[in-house]
Amino acid sequence: MKSLTDVYTLANGVKIPCVGFGTWQTPDGDVCVDSVKAALACGYRHIDTAAVYGNEASVGLGLVESGVDRKDVFVTTKLWNSVRGYEETRAAFAESMRKLGLDVLDLYLIHWPNPKMYRDNWEKANAETWRAMEDLYFEGKIRAIGVSNFLPHHFDALLKTARVVPMVNQIRLFPGFAQPETVEHCRKHNVLLQAYSPLGTGKLLSAETLVKMAEKYNKTPAQIALRWSLQMGFNPLPKSVTPSRIEENTKIFDFVLSEEDMETLTQMENPCGAGNHPDHTSF
Ligand code: A2P
Repeated sequence: MKSLTDVYTLANGVKIPCVGFGTWQTPDGDVCVDSVKAALACGYRHIDTAAVYGNEASVGLGLVESGVDRKDVFVTTKLWNSVRGYEETRAAFAESMRKLGLDVLDLYLIHWPNPKMYRDNWEKANAETWRAMEDLYFEGKIRAIGVSNFLPHHFDALLKTARVVPMVNQIRLFPGFAQPETVEHCRKHNVLLQAYSPLGTGKLLSAETLVKMAEKYNKTPAQIALRWSLQMGFNPLPKSVTPSRIEENTKIFDFVLSEEDMETLTQMENPCGAGNHPDHTSF
């Protein structure tokens, strides 16, 4: 990868820019509109949102106001946990599209595999939801479909009835939290791994290992973390509402981490905690 607009190719041939712009915890309104515009102005061509972030309308507005051609930007959104079932999924998709102001979506994901509301029958609930997403895909309304926060057993359960293998799994990945089992399982099925919280929601950046590595390469801790993600073959989705950081996070193509330093980062202690376990969420 040599620039933000270099791509990974999904199993169905759809191309996805190798770094995406994250919007989790970005408040709706001007802050979101302006950060999306700032990201597009400095070269990002991939924006990640979700129904539950509450900012789909602002993402859509930022895209329009940026003046960048819609077809040049890859947009992802996600189905929230309160929605499962065939018709319900189609309705939620239509609502997200109305808010985003789009006719065709690039990537639609099931946000979590085992919502609290469906804990007794998550397999069947996901199967019906996935059937709706597959039909939207076959109808040409979505260019690629995938999942998020799926562990191998969630993935295998979905495959029992799936007509389309998910093209993406978006999971929490950063130095010190490399989820090797899920990563290997995805690789076996030719599933691209998207890395959310690639900076550990910011908490990672003061870790000593990362700070020292940043000094060695004359880069910032954020740049080291994102470079690690790319060299792992992941698709990082860094979030920021700060223009200088949005730009800083793009300067990750002019250096290479050595194999030894990659390993050190992979094995470093995780200062950010284990995160939500997909089978034990309270939402
Ligand atoms: P802010 O949005 O206020 O600029 P993640 O992508 O892992 O979720 O991390 C996002 C968090 O990291 C946000 O709090 C964001 O702050 C912060 N952040 C993003 N980029 C940088 C950077 N280059 N340096 C320091 N903090 C950053």
